[in-house]
Amino acid sequence: MANLSVNHLLGIKNLTEQDLQLIFETADNFKEVINRPIKKVPSLRDITIANVFFENSTRTKLSFELAEKRLSADVINFSSSGSSVKKGETLLDTVNNILAMKVDMIVMRHSSPGAPHFLSKHIKANIVNAGDGTHEHPTQALLDTFSIRSKHKKIEGLKVAIIGDILHSRVALSNIFALKKLGAQVMVCGPNTLLPKYIHTLGVKVELDVLKALQWCDVANVLRIQLERQHIKYFPSIREYSLYYGINKSMLDKLDKQITIMHPGPINRGVELNSDVADSDHSIILEQVENGVAIRMAVLYLLASSKRAA
Ligand code: CP
Repeated sequence: MANLSVNHLLGIKNLTEQDLQLIFETADNFKEVINRPIKKVPSLRDITIANVFFENSTRTKLSFELAEKRLSADVINFSSSGSSVKKGETLLDTVNNILAMKVDMIVMRHSSPGAPHFLSKHIKANIVNAGDGTHEHPTQALLDTFSIRSKHKKIEGLKVAIIGDILHSRVALSNIFALKKLGAQVMVCGPNTLLPKYIHTLGVKVELDVLKALQWCDVANVLRIQLERQHIKYFPSIREYSLYYGINKSMLDKLDKQITIMHPGPINRGVELNSDVADSDHSIILEQVENGVAIRMAVLYLLASSKRAA
């Protein structure tokens, strides 16, 4: 059986195209499993996984937990709120104490970019990055690209526009890496203040006009304004952002083609997306969530298989 080229899933940047295809093919099998009446396989019954979340989450946390349970792993959940982190315990001490309880894998979300990379240098357990600050969110990009592949039956050659707060988005960076490796054309669109200065080095088109971006693309992945990461004002007001960059149904109706609308969630309804788009037949937002479980099952299964083979 083929293995991943990595022992940890820290980001998309260091994966190969073969890794991405292997994850997709494995996820195809698990998608079939989770649509059976008995949605469970014994693949990870010898593995214990800790979900270690230092930042809020709904989708990622529940999706990993469900993926782990569908694979028959033992699961423990740690949330920094209410933990001894509040008494000053370090990240490394916290994780080493969890590992002392014979845990095999760590799924971690942390607000500091590079936190899982730091951990990977100090512990032996496999680490899966569930989002590190503004850096990467690899399983989100995997489920996003898997969802595009399911909807369009291909990724190579497709035009994908990532629209919104690119500067603060780990989803944008991981999606850019994944889409480029898979041969898509990628555009980013947002106000100049929400585009990173290094964006031109990533081989993407840059567009400031959302109507032009929608006219260009086959798929629009619309991102949330991350107010919790904005410590200065990047645009005058939410109302103004919504006026210039919010996407509504009448904008889509004026296009000469049907485009696919994605969003990683949580949505700020009425800000970046109106409900008449989020809940329309353009949208594959809930398919993304469904595919997230199969993708996370694939990642966990492949990392455990590589470890067993070593
Ligand atoms: N898409 C995403 O990461 O959502 P959560 O923050 O709810 O996990």
